[in-house]
Amino acid sequence: MKQDIANIPRHVAVIMDGNGRWAKKRLMPRTFGHNAGMNAMIAMARKAKSMGIRYLTVYALSTENLSRPKEELEGLYNLFRKYFTKNVKDLYAEGAAVRVIGDITALPQDVQTLIEEGVKNSPADAQFFVILALNYGARAELTRAVNAAISRGERVEEGDISSLLYTKDIPDPDLIIRTGGELRLSNFLLWQAAYSELYFTDVLFPDFDEKQFEKAIASYSGRNRRFGKI
Ligand code: FPP
Repeated sequence: MKQDIANIPRHVAVIMDGNGRWAKKRLMPRTFGHNAGMNAMIAMARKAKSMGIRYLTVYALSTENLSRPKEELEGLYNLFRKYFTKNVKDLYAEGAAVRVIGDITALPQDVQTLIEEGVKNSPADAQFFVILALNYGARAELTRAVNAAISRGERVEEGDISSLLYTKDIPDPDLIIRTGGELRLSNFLLWQAAYSELYFTDVLFPDFDEKQFEKAIASYSGRNRRFGKI
């Protein structure tokens, strides 16, 4: 495939915001927006893979989201059920793997089992990884890492902290995209985002299509990353 964009990021992470507002504009329940968001996410993963990106992390459920009304959470759990029984098979067939970051023990037991199987059944030789952040919060992740370090009883270096995070096998994100108009990270990958480029757009996530994704990558591609150097 012809590739016009030079300098493709290795790891892109996305805060998929705006599903609720997208549904509200259509006088539909929030779950309708999450459904459309899942379709947008699947299309985005395909696009990312075709562009040569290796890791795509998506914020599918924050720890804070767990306090949403029961019907909305149940709608999201149903989407996870569908994704991990049906959609992951397409992912595997395309040579891609699924990974999860976050504390899934707070999710319904059957969802946990599906997630564990989804990760376990992923192809071993995958060249592309979809990483779902589920009941993920960066402060909780860091607190967990600090406690693990304390229990070892040794001083830690920066690399030791990285190796105690959920993302230990995943490179830091080169680019973090947030849709839906808010200009913040909302407890997402705070340690890993130290040198990430940020891209914000007002586009609501269900409308964040392949063209929009390409635009974000083109913006990244034109930037000069100095990592604190000159
Ligand atoms: C934020 O929009 C989005 C979420 C809380 C959920 C994101 C989930 C998906 C896109 C479905 C993913 C499915 C799988 C299987 C990973 P919001 O509800 O906060 O929107 P709002 O800001 O407009 O209210």
